[in-house]
Amino acid sequence: MSLTNDQILTALRGVKDPELGKDLVSLNMIKRVDVSGDRVKIGIELTTPACPMKDQIKKDVERELKKIGASAVEIEWSAQVRATPNLSQRLPGVKNVIAVGAGKGGVGKSTIAVLSAVGLAREGAKVGLLDADVYGPSIPMMVGLQQEKPRVRGEKLLPLEAVGLKVMSMGFMVDPEKAVIWRGPMVHGVLKQFLDQVDWGELDYMIIDLPPGTGDVPLTLAQSIPMTGAVVVCMPQAVALLDSIKALRMYQQLNVPILGIVENMSYFKAPDTGKEYDLFGRGAAKLEADRLGVPFLGEIPVNIAIRTSGDAGTPADIFEKTDAATREAVMNYVRRLAGQVSIKAAMQPTPLELKIT
Ligand SMILES: Nc1ncnc2c1ncn2[C@@H]1O[C@H](COP(=O)(O)OP(=O)(O)O)[C@@H](O)[C@H]1O
Ligand SMILES: [Mg+2]
Repeated sequence: MSLTNDQILTALRGVKDPELGKDLVSLNMIKRVDVSGDRVKIGIELTTPACPMKDQIKKDVERELKKIGASAVEIEWSAQVRATPNLSQRLPGVKNVIAVGAGKGGVGKSTIAVLSAVGLAREGAKVGLLDADVYGPSIPMMVGLQQEKPRVRGEKLLPLEAVGLKVMSMGFMVDPEKAVIWRGPMVHGVLKQFLDQVDWGELDYMIIDLPPGTGDVPLTLAQSIPMTGAVVVCMPQAVALLDSIKALRMYQQLNVPILGIVENMSYFKAPDTGKEYDLFGRGAAKLEADRLGVPFLGEIPVNIAIRTSGDAGTPADIFEKTDAATREAVMNYVRRLAGQVSIKAAMQPTPLELKIT
């Protein structure tokens, strides 16, 4: 006897997206159902190509469908990144804006911004990277675009492209060795230009590298666009954590949702012996995230390749040439970030396509 369409959808109502907390049918994630006797093919549309829950969802779907008698279950995956409500009115084509901030400089904010952007792009998302650290732009160097200048098309600036990202930075406009002295209104003007006069095209995620601290830039951004949320980068030692908490409180005051805390330079794994050294107090950021009730996004180790690839402008090396454990730590962080963005973004209904054979 052939399984019916209704039986299958009922079974799939029993599978929850573990992060979004609703079932796959209500979330409009079931894009097609193909039944042939007791063999079932399901089209599932994830809310991000970097879904951290894909394996879990697969297991749960197989279990529920086998319960109703399916002999074989095949899943066709696709992904459609959902957009943050009201963002498209302000930044047409851009679905999510993620600010990466920290309480102070030198904790690896730009590094984490680059890892986030490159990681999401490697998973198949369309990603832009906006260097809003107007006081000390370091993104051009970190993605290997130091000598480049953006071109103008019509009334708009074209972002530069590197490692699969669209990139814009004040560093393209000013001499990198010259100190830039900015007044609040000038910062405001430049950021507005970055948002309005740059031809970003279609982006699933725009990652913004913020300057350290709690100044004009996050304030202007929060007032200009409905940001999806902020990632707070911190190092585990107590003094650094305290600064990060200040930054986190500032986003909360500005009504910017907290996507989570990531602990950078969490530990060091010796490449020769594989032994892990707890340099600064690994785990402190997780405790702090739990205490504050915000998501913890992961631990990024101190790694020589992370530093050298930042200096050389070759971030792909982190995903290709580091040891497996470091790559996994980075990708776990990237996927948890994508998961948190999906949670924050809207659940736009899309039509269900059913085909019964
Ligand atoms: N996990 C890491 N492992 C090794 N070096 C790192 C790591 N994170 C950051 N760094 C290095 O530390 C320095 C400061 O990082 P950066 O991202 O520029 O910090 P920020 O933007 O917060 O000032 C850079 O040289 C960077 O390559
Ligand atoms: Mg920086």
